[in-house]
Amino acid sequence: MTMNLRSFATQTASFAATLTALLTAQAQTNAWDDPALQDAAWTARGCTNDARGQWFRDAKFGAFIHFGLYSELGGYWHGQACDPAEQIMGLGERRQSIPWKQYQQEVGGAFNPANFSAQKWVSLIKAAGQKYLIVTTKHHDGFAMFKTATTSYNVVDSTPFARDIIRELSDECKKQGIVFCLYYSIGDWCAADVMGPQFTGYEDYMHAQLRELLTHYGDIKMLWFDNYWYVNDQWKNDLPHAKRLYAFAHSINPNMLINDRCGRGAASTDGDYATPENQLQGSRRTRYFEVVMTDTGDDNWGWVKTARNYRTPAQLIHNLIDCTSKGGNFVLNVGPTASGEFPPQHVALLQAIGKWTGTNGAAIYGTVPAPECVMEFANGLQAYATKTSADLYIHVTQWPSDGTPAVVQIGRTGLGKVELLDPTLGKVECSSELKNSVTFLKITKPEIVDPYATVLRVALQPAAP
Ligand code: GLC
Repeated sequence: MTMNLRSFATQTASFAATLTALLTAQAQTNAWDDPALQDAAWTARGCTNDARGQWFRDAKFGAFIHFGLYSELGGYWHGQACDPAEQIMGLGERRQSIPWKQYQQEVGGAFNPANFSAQKWVSLIKAAGQKYLIVTTKHHDGFAMFKTATTSYNVVDSTPFARDIIRELSDECKKQGIVFCLYYSIGDWCAADVMGPQFTGYEDYMHAQLRELLTHYGDIKMLWFDNYWYVNDQWKNDLPHAKRLYAFAHSINPNMLINDRCGRGAASTDGDYATPENQLQGSRRTRYFEVVMTDTGDDNWGWVKTARNYRTPAQLIHNLIDCTSKGGNFVLNVGPTASGEFPPQHVALLQAIGKWTGTNGAAIYGTVPAPECVMEFANGLQAYATKTSADLYIHVTQWPSDGTPAVVQIGRTGLGKVELLDPTLGKVECSSELKNSVTFLKITKPEIVDPYATVLRVALQPAAP
């Protein structure tokens, strides 16, 4: 019984299902694929084959940073826990909110992340192998983490810290070669007119802020909208509004990518790519996607001072491989602490991931899925495939438990050298057999394997004689 490597990680039920049946079933249950929710003219968008999207398709691994006034509180308001922590002003989905004045005075008045260092953050991100950074310029609390003329409710004018965090990060990203991207919440709990019938005043306010963000911080390659649904639900399914917003942003920077969270949310094909959250299953194969994930096993994007449930390097590296093998990106979130640092647990994760990407990056960056790879799915073997024009990469995350070789069927002939991408693991023993133009590659488990994923490079051409 065989199974396509790309779908392997999503398989939880019976292994007897064929790949076709599996994909069909998934398409039927995934609202994102419902054609009734799609608008033909609008779906023409998308960065899958678009030159604007080249950097994004190659980057594969990004960093998300949720940093704002909420970081000051670490998930607790006067001793009361709030989930998700970054929404503490609304006390989680706005069940009961902290009055704006009080939030501004008490929290803003104390916001002083003295250890914030753009240089340290960006260095950590870079060493982990993350190629781009998305940072919250304004979350749902409406607080601007940048200097703006639109409101004094911003980090420079309303906190003792008084430094433009977005400026420092954008400068540092430029210096270190990390692509700098902006998160911007459309929903805003504090702006004037935000609840008005047509949002006229709010729309102007938002456009003015976006103009500042898109013109004062260098060339912005990607804008990450969020939270179309909070403004009393009025923007939900408001297609003209969404189109206006996309058009406005593109009128300032036509080459910028924009995610899908504007207008109709997850059940839409708006924007350049899909952004499934905290799950690998919803990745839409018909469209470019970016899985965004918290570093803890819950839905907190802002820092929680009591968090202990950090994900493991193995989970995160497997997620990165999984997304890449399906043709998408993986983005790992961090909520920096009140003092302005990445939590030590997150730093440890980045270091472990960086060690793996540092050695195995050739199998991730700039690769595409390799659907011609099918493996004999037996005895607990777990593997994925990616490729470039020159090489095929087999990522083995779990070897057969009974010591039998891992068997990979490759729908190609005339393959070349097979070697481990990490030379410190030594040599790998393989044999191959050709049947009906399919190469059956049998890989014996090397004596030393990578604890997260052992990667084999298979040359697509035989070596020159
Ligand atoms: C969720 C959270 C929101 C967060 C976002 C990041 O939608 O509710 O607070 O910013 O995820 O993707």
